[in-house]
Amino acid sequence: MVDWKRTHYCGTINEELAGRDVTLNGWVNRRRDLGGMIFVDLRDRSGLVQVVLNPETLGAEQFAVAEKLRNEYVVSVSGVVNLRPQGQENPNMETGYVEVNVTKLTILAEAKTPPFQIDKADQVDESIRLKYRYLHLRSSELQKTIALRHEMVAEVRSFLNDRGFLEIETPLLIRSTPEGARDYIVPSRIHPGEFYALPQSPQMFKQLLMIGGFDRYYQIARCFRDEDLRADRQPEFTQIDIEMSFVDRDDIIEIMEEMILHVLERVKGIKIDGPLTRMGYQEAMDRFGSDRPDTRFGLELRDVTPGVQNSEFRVFADTVNKGGVVKGINAEGCGATFTRREIDELVEKATEMGAKGLIWIALEEDNVRSPIAKFLSKDELDYIIEALEGKPGDLLLLAADKYDVVSDVLGRLRLVLGRKLDLIDDELYHLLWVVDWPLLVYDEESKRFVAAHHPFTAPVDSDIELLETDPGKARAKAYDLVLNGVELGGGSIRITSRTVQEKMFKALGFTMEEAYRQFGYFMEAFEYGAPPHGGIAFGLDRFVMLLAGRSSIRDVIAFPKTVSARDLMVEAPAPVSSEQLEELKLKVNN
Ligand code: AMO
Ligand code: AMP
Repeated sequence: MVDWKRTHYCGTINEELAGRDVTLNGWVNRRRDLGGMIFVDLRDRSGLVQVVLNPETLGAEQFAVAEKLRNEYVVSVSGVVNLRPQGQENPNMETGYVEVNVTKLTILAEAKTPPFQIDKADQVDESIRLKYRYLHLRSSELQKTIALRHEMVAEVRSFLNDRGFLEIETPLLIRSTPEGARDYIVPSRIHPGEFYALPQSPQMFKQLLMIGGFDRYYQIARCFRDEDLRADRQPEFTQIDIEMSFVDRDDIIEIMEEMILHVLERVKGIKIDGPLTRMGYQEAMDRFGSDRPDTRFGLELRDVTPGVQNSEFRVFADTVNKGGVVKGINAEGCGATFTRREIDELVEKATEMGAKGLIWIALEEDNVRSPIAKFLSKDELDYIIEALEGKPGDLLLLAADKYDVVSDVLGRLRLVLGRKLDLIDDELYHLLWVVDWPLLVYDEESKRFVAAHHPFTAPVDSDIELLETDPGKARAKAYDLVLNGVELGGGSIRITSRTVQEKMFKALGFTMEEAYRQFGYFMEAFEYGAPPHGGIAFGLDRFVMLLAGRSSIRDVIAFPKTVSARDLMVEAPAPVSSEQLEELKLKVNN
């Protein structure tokens, strides 16, 4: 039996324990020498408490040990809880009214000087924090975030368990398929020249579980996608993955909304009453220029196309003639407050985002300032002002281009302005469903249709015919849940008929041969009694990020990768030995 085991956690020491003997285990957060006495802030997972090392209480031998203490040493201390002397309380510290007067000190582990002070990790480069992630994890911020993540998963599990969902694992070594993002592939040693792929999601397996009769499935599933990374994308991430049989769209939306609201209430105490808003995809694009609108603030997009189609300003007239649109947003009040330089910066931003330009019109009492003022007739100007509800002092921003480009640019400019003008209340949680998605979208780059969600999403029944005649018009039985402008989750009712699935693959440009080579086993399964089913997957990392008030999912993953997909701590990826390559019959060619 060792004699240093804790009786309490540091953060739990309070006035009620005054006079009691306690033993604490933890790390030296900070050490101060004050005239022969040493004060240490001791840290464990629960928080900090001040411990006092006094030569008179400790004796010379033990005090000599105390003098060796440095930051991040791991120690055990035993002693008496005392109220701090008057005037020495620290109201900023949870345990700031007490301290522990140490009678026994044991050093459990020494520590080198850490590359950064744990509670000042934000002062060093991210690459250093990631290399020493285990040190950064000691910070109260990451301790809290990772604990929040655990609580959220626990609430999800208990919600789903209570409703008859079974948690079922699906394989990680699967077959590479051509749809979606790029796969991470794993070479097979036993079958040289052949490869597994890591799943981008358990999509087909969860559908096969429905065909396998499990009726309600969930999994906290790791997914792998080799795509360009951003703040809310990691190469491996976690989904709350769900599938249900014998349901329609509304059943899934209702129960999932209940689950998300349950988690919000249980872990954050935020009570939101359902049912949540449902917005059509087209309305989201028209009003917000985005399929994941942040509805916490206005600055909505307005169409002025009809009013400027014959304009003397050629950009407008030509764009409309070519089938494009002219839309704008009203940055209220900014006509009066923005400097010319700020306006120029907006124009530059819009150009970087892919616009050909950005027209601005600053409204004054009986005048307008604009680079194109002399080209606009009074009618045109009036139309624009009315459509954008302009008032003196406002700044109207207009873009002309194809609908998709205008939506994208103004949608993103809207977010930039929302932040700049401080219109976004970070205390708000705005959840909404985006419904009535198109089934397919035309990809200009590859000159073909790609699935707006994935190839297993069912078309609206009456649109099945369109797959063969006008695929771009077919609507999907799909839905996304959006939280504060972030796509939290997406799902759909699935195709369960082999002929419809064949039509879908055809519309996606597959030959039937290719489709059967890749997905034959799946389509065959439809012929052995596939129940109607559907589901959804939520990005767990994004959900935690939003509830933790962070702006990157790296902050809510214990061991994340950099934006260039590296793990700086274990240094992965890394070359492997020539023996390993030989065994796999692989040659590196670079
Ligand atoms: P989807 O591809 O929309 O759907 O993914 C579901 C959710 O997963 C999250 N997500 C990511 N999070 C972090 N990093 C990434 N690289 C990343 N990619 C996606 C998002 C997204 O909403 N099988 C389907 C779901 C279904 O139809 O049931 C699927 O994977 O929050
Ligand atoms: P240009 O004709 O290229 O000299 O552009 C004249 C003005 O129109 C500049 O202020 C551009 O920023 C703006 N502009 C050009 N193309 C567009 C467009 N597609 N939408 C909005 N403004 C544009």
